[in-house]
Amino acid sequence: MKKRNMLVTGGAGFIGRWVVGKLLEGGGTVTVLDDLSTGSRKNILEFESNPEFTFVEGSILDARLIEDLFNAHAYEVCFHLAANIVVQDSIDHPRKVFQNDVVGTFNLLEACRARKTRFLFMSTCMVYERSSDWAGITETHATKPVSPYGAFKIAGEAMALSYWHAYGLPVTVVRPFNTYGPYQRADGEGGVVAVFTKRKLEGKPLLIYGDGTQTRDLMEVTDCASFVTLAGLSEKTVGEVLNAGAGRDVTINQLAEMISEGRVPIEHVPHIHPQSEIPKLLCNYNKARDLLGWKPKVKLEKGLKRVEEWMRRQTR
Ligand SMILES: NC(=O)c1ccc[n+]([C@@H]2O[C@H](COP(=O)([O-])OP(=O)(O)OC[C@H]3O[C@@H](n4cnc5c(N)ncnc54)[C@H](O)[C@@H]3O)[C@@H](O)[C@H]2O)c1
Repeated sequence: MKKRNMLVTGGAGFIGRWVVGKLLEGGGTVTVLDDLSTGSRKNILEFESNPEFTFVEGSILDARLIEDLFNAHAYEVCFHLAANIVVQDSIDHPRKVFQNDVVGTFNLLEACRARKTRFLFMSTCMVYERSSDWAGITETHATKPVSPYGAFKIAGEAMALSYWHAYGLPVTVVRPFNTYGPYQRADGEGGVVAVFTKRKLEGKPLLIYGDGTQTRDLMEVTDCASFVTLAGLSEKTVGEVLNAGAGRDVTINQLAEMISEGRVPIEHVPHIHPQSEIPKLLCNYNKARDLLGWKPKVKLEKGLKRVEEWMRRQTR
């Protein structure tokens, strides 16, 4: 990897810290901008002694701070991952999440426009309309904003792509499918794998929202991070939207069985937002494979074990 100066917003979060790790491994210089609202210094502890790494605690809503950072570091690439990712929060507090996710994205785009900084926008599979296509969801599949979270991501995508069309700013939009792995939060509406695994280790029943027939295409976080870094650094992805996922979906019922291994009971509880549920999510990642030579490497069974081992180490 060529030596580059890069900004990662949300780099103290779950996926962000793995992206930062990959960029540093590749010889890059990385600044993380994170307000630690859901991220943590603990997630990036292992990078803090690296002279190529800088952490800045601050918000993407602080346009002045962003301006100062861009002036000081002349970033070549901005990986924009910072967002409020909790769907229920977006339903309960749309104004707050709109500010964070849409206005925050606009602030970064403006800074990138002024300096022609390459921009990667981290969207999500949660923008897609339901699909029952066995070949999986491709990037041309219809979108449907079933939650403000999804709507704000679609807005961010549209803003980013408009900067490509209107100003020639090199942008890439990525839509990772549900991602899991070490460092994911297991509280509240955290990732389903983290929540289930924690409850199993505590000997508590696994609680499934609704009937559990909804499916998820679960991608291990190291696969997600390699996809994001490749997509953000390749010339071939400029102006493009790209999916990434495992290419295999499981129902939440199946996932609960795989994690519980019969050791804790599985219970169904009423869904907190059935209206914002997407019943089937299966990724078709052919475009990322063809453009980047990327494909997922970690099988779900192995990834689930990795999460459990990591969580056991945290509680020792
Ligand atoms: N987890 C998934 O399954 C998944 C799937 C697809 C896309 N994504 C996207 O990936 C990105 C990272 O998600 P994650 O799962 O790592 O969540 P996360 O909550 O761990 O990471 C988000 C990070 O952004 C930071 N942040 C939030 N608002 C900020 C602000 N105003 N200024 C600075 N920092 C701020 C948080 O402190 C946190 O560190 C998000 O954009 C999310 O939408 C996640």
